[in-house]
Amino acid sequence: MSDTLGMATQLAGNAVRFSWYAGLNWLLARETRRLSPRPRYSPERPVPSESELRADLRALFLADAAAVRDGLYPPKEPAAGLAEHLRDVRAMFADLPSTIERRQSEDTHSAVRHADAGSLPDYYTQDFHFQTGGYLSEESAKLYDVQVETLFYGAAGAMRRAGLKPIAAFLRGRDQRRCALLDVACGTGRFLRDIRLAFPGLGLTGLDLSQSYLDAAQAHLADLRPATLLRANAEAMPLPDASQDIVTAVFLYHELPGEVRRRVTAEIARVLKPGGLFVLIDSLQMGDRPGWDGLLEAFPVRFHEPYFAHYATDDLETMLTDAGLASCETAHAFLSKVMVRRKS
Ligand SMILES: C[S@@+](CC[C@H](N)C(=O)[O-])C[C@H]1O[C@@H](n2cnc3c(N)ncnc32)[C@H](O)[C@@H]1O
Repeated sequence: MSDTLGMATQLAGNAVRFSWYAGLNWLLARETRRLSPRPRYSPERPVPSESELRADLRALFLADAAAVRDGLYPPKEPAAGLAEHLRDVRAMFADLPSTIERRQSEDTHSAVRHADAGSLPDYYTQDFHFQTGGYLSEESAKLYDVQVETLFYGAAGAMRRAGLKPIAAFLRGRDQRRCALLDVACGTGRFLRDIRLAFPGLGLTGLDLSQSYLDAAQAHLADLRPATLLRANAEAMPLPDASQDIVTAVFLYHELPGEVRRRVTAEIARVLKPGGLFVLIDSLQMGDRPGWDGLLEAFPVRFHEPYFAHYATDDLETMLTDAGLASCETAHAFLSKVMVRRKS
């Protein structure tokens, strides 16, 4: 049955979220200009106009609402805890001066000073996005979601949810209670929550290297049927061969060096069952939308993203095919793309 009310609710929620986060994005940019004398990096490659960006966002939000109308997943729940959200927003602004200081002094090593850092790979113990504590502090885990939504004008959730459609298609005709899904680099568990709400019967596992982010994920999932959360390196996952029907990885690949990206892909192929589904969501790459390449050029300069430039021109197609993950479909979702693959 078509859920027109659900569609309207989803559209209205996305419109409110966009207005709020676009406002935060504007305020953060203004505050950054005030605190930092450095001129903003101007890319040489073309950038989309504001109206082009808005039109694309509208298309993403419409697709998100249509998926709700078609019953692929339920409408996004109303935001819980306004006071808590405002506290996180304040904390994001309070953290800005130290973020800018790190950017100016090119010091991206506050994470190295964390107790866990010694046992972790060097590529990981950097302050991605100049975040205080990198991925290793509780504060960083608290700020992550509000920072990401601010960066993406409130569209991060809708970009992730674009990955629910291929999962729904894969599960059609299957008993989801007999299926296992692994979200690699689950972070604070936002996508796991979307998955749990859409497919309540699935066996869910989330894996990440950061205990602080896993603790945040645990809190985000606390009122739902439990998922197994594992602290582990995606390069060597403590999971048996062919144990997963579905594997997802959202916003991970651009943060990995090229050779690690390949090791993680091989691990994903190893733990997937034959015929299993892999859904990879990450940034657009150079040439995906040529008029937008300037955004991809500027991103790693404005934010500490040491492996993004390599990611942006990496041959993901060949990498995935060589790992035994055959191409099914690739779709754009605003600044992201959703690559759907099946293990052959
Ligand atoms: C940009 S965040 C994305 C988090 C989440 N998937 C999302 O949608 O917001 C990248 C995540 O990858 C995790 N990560 C990076 N390298 C990893 C590795 N080698 N093994 C496991 N997790 C890793 C980080 O701890 C962080 O939570």
